Amino acid sequence: MSVRPVFLFNSTQERAAVFAPAFAADLPEVDFVTDAAAVEADDVRYLLTWTIPQDLARYRNLEVVFSIGAGVDQFDTVGLSPRVALVRMVEDGIIRMMQEYVALAVLALHRDLPAYRAQQEAEVWRALPPRQAEERRVGFLGQGMLAQAAMERLKPFGFPLAGWSRSARSLEGVESFHGADGLGAFLARTDILVCLLPLTDETRGILDADLFARLPQGAALVHAGRGPQLDASALLAALDAKHLSAAMLDVTDPEPLPAGHPLWRHPQVIVTPHVASVTQAGTAARAVIDNIRRHRSGEPMIGLVDRARGY
Ligand code: GLV
Repeated sequence: MSVRPVFLFNSTQERAAVFAPAFAADLPEVDFVTDAAAVEADDVRYLLTWTIPQDLARYRNLEVVFSIGAGVDQFDTVGLSPRVALVRMVEDGIIRMMQEYVALAVLALHRDLPAYRAQQEAEVWRALPPRQAEERRVGFLGQGMLAQAAMERLKPFGFPLAGWSRSARSLEGVESFHGADGLGAFLARTDILVCLLPLTDETRGILDADLFARLPQGAALVHAGRGPQLDASALLAALDAKHLSAAMLDVTDPEPLPAGHPLWRHPQVIVTPHVASVTQAGTAARAVIDNIRRHRSGEPMIGLVDRARGY
């Protein structure tokens, strides 16, 4: 076994072309390798990947698995030894793109874009009664890094902001709710609901008929979490009953959304193909290098997943 630790990169060539020079310049003590066949399995200490490879057991000295994306729900972690750290991608590019998407979606729903688009289809020139930002209460399901960054972008518009999460959070300028007990009050005060929750056993199917019924009449949904959190039939029923006014969805289950699915053509729904936020190689390389340095000097890594919690 050589003394040099290997970082095995299992992603696209385009990304590798950005990561490789960053590693060479900033982390020369670690070998950056893209070809798994070209390394001694025992030298691999770090793996960056989207899913757990079949032959993971080969890497007996593996210390850290880095997810190429913000989520880790795609990992089947059953085969991953508990002594291997699992790390989410937390990098400036993902954060900035999510800020853009949430601002875009909240403003589109706030300013009645789906209704105007339907009017345009029918060649109708008619102003809808405008509602002011201070009367439009925005609520985030999830108060993690991405939600907090999106909230910061929305603050200057003047929307009353709230957030809900499993455990209590205290965020400046945000009314925070938590736990099952806090969910009802959070939903009752939310006109635009933004879902940025991680996918776990607890959040699977959370956007269901019961949750929609607890939102005020005319509320709208922005979903940039994970597809399996949404009961699409319940959403369609709530829209058709005019209880919800509109939805902007970046994630569906399955993905891609199948041809002919009613969400494609619903006039009050805007669908984007899981593009809200995408890992940006330059900033991601910096984040991973920084985390490896932290790991090597015994400091806590940013985005370390609590395996019991699932995010
Ligand atoms: C995208 O959804 C990601 O996990 O980065």
